[in-house]
Amino acid sequence: MTESVMPTYGRLNVAFTKGEGAWLTDDQGQRYLDALSGIAVCNLGHCHPAVTHSIQQQAEALIHTSNYYHIPQQEALANKLTAISGMQQAFFCNSGAEANEAAIKIARKYGHSKGIDKPVVIVMDSSFHGRTMATLTATGNAKVQAGFDPLLPGFVRIPFNDLDALRMAIGHWPEAVAVLVEPIQGEGGIKVPDAEYLAGVRAICTQRKLLMMLDEVQTGIGRTGKWFGFQHTEGLIPDVMTLAKGLGNGVPIGACLVAGHAVGILQAGNHGSTFGGNPLVCAAANSVLNTIEHDQLLPHVETLGLAMLNRFKEKLAGNPGIKQIRGRGMMFGIELTMPCADLVKRALADYLLINVTAESTIRLLPPLIINSEEAEMIVDKVSQLIIDFIAEQPVESVA
Ligand SMILES: Cc1ncc(COP(=O)(O)O)c(C=O)c1O
Repeated sequence: MTESVMPTYGRLNVAFTKGEGAWLTDDQGQRYLDALSGIAVCNLGHCHPAVTHSIQQQAEALIHTSNYYHIPQQEALANKLTAISGMQQAFFCNSGAEANEAAIKIARKYGHSKGIDKPVVIVMDSSFHGRTMATLTATGNAKVQAGFDPLLPGFVRIPFNDLDALRMAIGHWPEAVAVLVEPIQGEGGIKVPDAEYLAGVRAICTQRKLLMMLDEVQTGIGRTGKWFGFQHTEGLIPDVMTLAKGLGNGVPIGACLVAGHAVGILQAGNHGSTFGGNPLVCAAANSVLNTIEHDQLLPHVETLGLAMLNRFKEKLAGNPGIKQIRGRGMMFGIELTMPCADLVKRALADYLLINVTAESTIRLLPPLIINSEEAEMIVDKVSQLIIDFIAEQPVESVA
């Protein structure tokens, strides 16, 4: 490993040179089953032929022009995203953090339009929204913020999945203009809120004229078995929704979509991004959305995801080291009663890519395209790794 790269990541000792579907091959020719998809990015698997073809074709025709000009691929993508989400307009950028920056700017400008000089955005405990200064301030994780004081003003934090806490915060902070929340907390440990939570947030936001801003960076683009996580709640439309990760299947693209009171807040000159929504990334994203639709992946994710969740529950039933098994679609969190970061290396030694988040939750985000054999392989391998790991722990950490 060269010292010329800044050591901002704890990297595993492996380098991949090729990918196909749910499989990666390392520089020694060894194959690995990918149950992480580049952290919920390669939803269609690695190097999906349709997406690769679109990238190749677009790269030959035109890669970048800037947003000084019309970009037909960007317009087509905005049309498609608004059609499948019920949102009204899209702004394109390059990452999840940037999409959330756009959302936060919209919230602040919305506040100013209502005569609020110091608008406040309500954010959640154990959330994750990115690593820029505004998004790490919004993030509910002290480790992400450590060393970067002064954080930005204009954020208050409340517990996730707690409507009373939201009502109290709004009562306490008349400057509150928006709520920023993930439909399922990803980095926070695949925390699925109660069935009525998002509808409750929507109702409170509507009643109190706050923007409901959903961070769908991890949950969006089919990950949970619907296009977007919020679509599991009947009739719900947020005011702002942010996307990235799976939208480009590996090319960097983010988006911030608006509806209702959030439409028209950002005007010419208020926001921008040099690369944002260029022809190359939009061609890739259009191909991603067409493929999900054409291959009918959403029902596949819903059915296979539920079957996998149930298989995990069966295989790990009664094990005292298991605290909870959660998930929706191809998003799984298996929380142990003890820290388990070591499982990532053990899985790698078993040629399987997984992640551990929030110290004690095994996080799985397999590609949406996995077949039932690959699903079974993931369930078998992960369950066995967990059972062996728990069996080796001192009794007091298991209880
Ligand atoms: C919910 C959520 N929001 C925002 C981000 C930040 O996205 P990016 O790393 O593309 O800036 C992430 C990344 O993990 C995420 O999971």
